[in-house]
Formats: sequence, structure tokens, C-alpha cells
Amino acid sequence: MRNILVTGAFGQIGSELVPALQQHFGGEHVVLSDIRMAPRASAGGQAEPVFEHVDCTEPQQVLEAVRRHDIDTIYHLAALLSAVAEERPHLAWSINMGGLYNVLEAARQYRCRVFFPSSIGAFGPSTPRDHTPQVTIQRPTTMYGVTKASGELLCDYYAARFGIDVRGLRLPGLISYVAPPGGGTTDYAVEIFYQALRYKHYRCFLGPETRLDMMYMPDATRAMIELMAADSAPLHHRNAYNITAMSITPEDLAAEIRKHIPDFIIDYQVDPVRQAIAESWPRSLDDSAAREDWGWAPRYDLASMTADMLARLGETVTGPARAPKQG
Ligand SMILES: NC(=O)c1ccc[n+]([C@@H]2O[C@H](COP(=O)([O-])OP(=O)(O)OC[C@H]3O[C@@H](n4cnc5c(N)ncnc54)[C@H](O)[C@@H]3O)[C@@H](O)[C@H]2O)c1
Repeated sequence: MRNILVTGAFGQIGSELVPALQQHFGGEHVVLSDIRMAPRASAGGQAEPVFEHVDCTEPQQVLEAVRRHDIDTIYHLAALLSAVAEERPHLAWSINMGGLYNVLEAARQYRCRVFFPSSIGAFGPSTPRDHTPQVTIQRPTTMYGVTKASGELLCDYYAARFGIDVRGLRLPGLISYVAPPGGGTTDYAVEIFYQALRYKHYRCFLGPETRLDMMYMPDATRAMIELMAADSAPLHHRNAYNITAMSITPEDLAAEIRKHIPDFIIDYQVDPVRQAIAESWPRSLDDSAAREDWGWAPRYDLASMTADMLARLGETVTGPARAPKQG
């Protein structure tokens, strides 16, 4: 085998996808890249991961990293997330579309396979919101959604026109404890755990009944690896497969946390920007195509995810350490 390049490797997903890839394929085969510099190495005597500083909006930097490290697979995670993209739409277009174009071009020139993380944000207010089908109306009204729907089309174009093996997932909101989320509409579902453990109180920026799809990060990273490992013959879709694990509201999550922390309190201060984004997204996805075509099945539901998050975070959330920013 050759090597795997991960762009945006220091983000919420990369922080857990990279160790999973290293475990599967060997650390020497996984090249981390990000616009941020690598954190200083620990003095633990472990082998240093391979790191390349790559701004994905710079075509030469992407090409050079692929050439130099003999890359045959790119997990392209670098992007601006939904809330940040709404604040900075021009930059979001440049990073999300320009970066993807540069990655696909590098893949075309060096015959790489590409993983593209699409999102429930690729849908819009005219999409059926319950059991959203695999193939349906996609008219997103956010810049993030515009880049995800356009990104899906661009990936399909490179697959059809140039024969590039590009595969993607429409990921729901991801819940994780290793790295803080990067400014998405579903960030509340991570912040709530830190605040519950520290203060037994969380002020939520989405309303209590805002139902959205969510998934625990170990399921998401496994899905990314399994999709790229799947036999291509049964794949009826490429960009991108609906996947989900749970469809929940802030009230549902708070009630589940209360089973472990009985005096936990949630209250609400709705952020109109993120509430409007959430209300333009599906309430639940139909992921039957992923289940049929490549055997997708989640392992964590609301109860098992909550128990695991609290156990893992409980070990680290002590004293005055920093929590992710609220609001
Ligand atoms: N986290 C989620 O809930 C979620 C859900 C659906 C889809 N996704 C998608 O998955 C991908 C990764 O998401 P994430 O949550 O890890 O995001 P994140 O914001 O946590 O991380 C993104 C990373 O990209 C890097 N980056 C930004 N601009 C860059 C550039 N020009 N060149 C190189 N690197 C750059 C950032 O430094 C950061 O480390 C994104 O495409 C996102 O849209 C995420």
C-alpha cells in the first residue's frame, strides 16, 4: 500500500480519524496536514506522526504533499463549518470549494482515491425533513450547505468524467470528546457534556424541541474507513451516502444526561442564526442505501453514547481546565 493524506487533520474529526487510520494502516502510512501547525511533540518516545503544513486553497501545496509522500488516498476534512461559514461566506466558498477542487485536481493528476465529508447541511428547507431520502431535493440556503451540495456534484463529476474513486458521507452532527467542535450548528451536543460535568448547568443556543440527526464519533470514523474499504461494485451512490445513528432534541439529550447527573439543569438562550440553520436541515435521515450498499450500521444510540461520553470526559474534565466556548 501507499500512503493516506488527511487534510484538516487537527479538527474535531481528524483528531479521532487519524488515530483510527494509524491503527488500521500503520502510523508511517498516514500523513497529517492542516493550515494550523502541528502541536509540539510529547516527550513520550513514541514515533512522530508525519506532518505537512498544507493550506488546501493553495494548489501547489496540495500537489506537493501528494507527490512527496506518495499518497494514494486523501481524506479531505479541511473546511469551514456551518455557523462560521455563515459569518464568513466568502472565505467559506474559498476554503470549502477551492480546497475541494485542488484536492480533486491532485487526485486526478496522481490517481488518488478521495473521501469527501458532506453533511445534513447539504439539504434545505424544501427537502422532506423526516426520513429524508437518499435522493431528494437539495436546495440549501446556507453558504455551508451550498458548498456541500456543490461539493457532492463536483465529486460525482470527477468520478464520472475522470474515473476518480471519490466517495462521501452526509454526516449528521458529531459528538466527541477528543477535540472541541469547530463552529457548527450541532456543537451544543458536545458543549452540554462539558458544562454538565463542570457546572451541572447548560444554556443551549438551540430551542428545546430542535430535532436533528447526531452520531458518536467512533461510529463516524468507522463509517469513513468502511466506506473507503467497500467493494465499489455495489455502490449505487458516491456523493454522498446518508448515514445516521440517532435523531434527538436538546431536551432528549438533557433527559439522558439527567439519568447520570440527576440535578443537571438545561435552559435556553436561542441564537437566531443557528436556530434558522437547524430549521433548514432534516430532522431524521433515511440511511437505508448505506445499509444496503456497504453494510452500514451504527453501534451507539443515545443511551450508550451518553454513558460513554460522561465516562470518558469525567476522567479529564477536572479543576479549572478550559471548556469549549459556549454560545
Ligand atoms: N463535525 C461535524 O459535526 C461535521 C458534520 C458533518 C460534516 N462535517 C464535515 O467534516 C469535515 C471536518 O469537520 P471537523 O468537524 O473536523 O471540522 P473542524 O472545524 O473541527 O476542523 C477543520 C480543520 O480544517 C483546518 N483548516 C481550515 N482551513 C484550512 C485550509 N485552508 N487548509 C487546510 N486546513 C484548513 C482547520 O485548521 C481545522 O483543523 C468538514 O468538511 C465538515 O464540513 C463535520
